[in-house]
Amino acid sequence: MSSQPAAIIRTAGAEFPETWVMPGHKTWASHARHVAHLAQPQPGVSLNGTELCVPANVYHPGIGLSSRFLVDALCALKPGIEGAVLDLGCGSGFVGLSLHQPGMKLVLADISPAAVASTSENLRRLGLAAEVMQSDLFRELRGRRFDAIIFNPPLLDKRVEHTAEVALCDPDGRLLSRFLDEAHHHLAAQGKLFFTASNLMNRGALLGGLSKYRYHIIASAHDGQSEVSRWVICATPA
Ligand SMILES: C[S@@+](CC[C@H](N)C(=O)[O-])C[C@H]1O[C@@H](n2cnc3c(N)ncnc32)[C@H](O)[C@@H]1O
Repeated sequence: MSSQPAAIIRTAGAEFPETWVMPGHKTWASHARHVAHLAQPQPGVSLNGTELCVPANVYHPGIGLSSRFLVDALCALKPGIEGAVLDLGCGSGFVGLSLHQPGMKLVLADISPAAVASTSENLRRLGLAAEVMQSDLFRELRGRRFDAIIFNPPLLDKRVEHTAEVALCDPDGRLLSRFLDEAHHHLAAQGKLFFTASNLMNRGALLGGLSKYRYHIIASAHDGQSEVSRWVICATPA
């Protein structure tokens, strides 16, 4: 699997392609390689010259393409990610820590204890301050609102059969549906969601969940090797 970031293509509209390429043999082979990579001790990846800690079974931003894609899109498009910011499903913390700015009140949350420990260690290594917590989506964030909620979710509509697949798989889009159902209760006035979507996702869950929002696609990319399309979506409550 390439660690090169996918090229970002700006798109003007909010329409997803009508022909939605369903996962084929290239996708499944790529997924199997990804799971095998994640299950092993992972190679280093650096952020601003600092080596990050990414233990086994925590999503690796140098192996999976979607974290860099999301960070590159958000940095390139400068949508103004500031104030109270939530990096949900933070994994190693790569996304939130890449976007960290002085004055930002950053919260990073993940359901996986290994991810939470990895993010805490990476904050320490980078000398940054932020709040880190274990939470199943917004469960530990009741009553809290954010100016930006960022989520690079598990993309593949597949049953979780291995620990590493908690970071990669969302059977029937149930996590995505819950996320889109709950997220608008956690947005401040003018707050925005930024999340990664893909043709690997359950299309019904994505389009159904987005029906409660106004949204546009701010970046898109296609990886021919794995037949995966990725989009970065910016959404506000309708
Ligand atoms: C694709 S990985 C992204 C990790 C990191 N944000 C990045 O981009 O490098 C998805 C993350 O979502 C987390 N996750 C899965 N289910 C979750 C849930 N119910 N609540 C919170 N986080 C969850 C996984 O543990 C994993 O760290």
